Amino acid sequence: MTAHKSGDPTTLNRLYGRQSGHKLRAGQQQLVDELLPALSVPEEGPVTAERLFGYDRPLHFEIGFGGGEHLAYRADLLPDHGFIGCEPFLNGVVSALGHIRDQRLPNIRLHMGNALEVLSRIPDGALSFVYLLHPDPWPKARHAKRRMMNKGPVDMISAKLKPGGEFRFGTDHPVYLRWALMVMNGREDFDWLCESPRDFLTRPGGWPETRYEAKARRIGHEVWYFRYRKRG
Ligand SMILES: C[S@@+](CC[C@H](N)C(=O)[O-])C[C@H]1O[C@@H](n2cnc3c(N)ncnc32)[C@H](O)[C@@H]1O
Repeated sequence: MTAHKSGDPTTLNRLYGRQSGHKLRAGQQQLVDELLPALSVPEEGPVTAERLFGYDRPLHFEIGFGGGEHLAYRADLLPDHGFIGCEPFLNGVVSALGHIRDQRLPNIRLHMGNALEVLSRIPDGALSFVYLLHPDPWPKARHAKRRMMNKGPVDMISAKLKPGGEFRFGTDHPVYLRWALMVMNGREDFDWLCESPRDFLTRPGGWPETRYEAKARRIGHEVWYFRYRKRG
């Protein structure tokens, strides 16, 4: 797929907010200069487990990993699986690099930039899990088409998941919640793994709290958790 055409779901107009914040300290700059190039997803060509990790293994993909807490937790939990994390925000990438170094996680590859560009290069049916946690809200109605939860991106997520693969989504934003339910309830390619309200009101096992989520709860927000299984 050719990226960056207008109307193409991989275009960068979904980026929201800052791409870098405070100036990096020397140790952080060293992580960017030395560790990031060694762990980066290749800039062109297919993105496969063999190419990234040397052999086939279940692949997980996180869109907008923030500080990388969830990515690092999952990669530590599942050392035989491969993880791809995408995040355009430099300080978030630095934080993830710190987790990877400190927790010695060999099974993560990173892309500093638009997740949809990398997702478009993953072969169809290759992913076991896709994570979209607290995506940027784009709360104004006129910006709704920029939300990651929209037909174009979700069609791509669906195509890249294998049958039985899981799409996890979380938000603390009531407008985004209603929007996401409308988008997902209209689809026939996913089963919502939910039997009672408890399933979306309490954090499922194996789903750690990120810094973003902790802050949302501190300021009194409710958080909702969704798991969808790709139909066969
Ligand atoms: C509200 S933060 C949530 C971060 C993290 N998922 C968490 O729960 O802590 C949303 C993140 O999505 C990132 N983001 C926005 N557009 C993106 C895109 N097209 N590809 C990858 N990440 C993106 C932002 O830089 C930001 O870090």
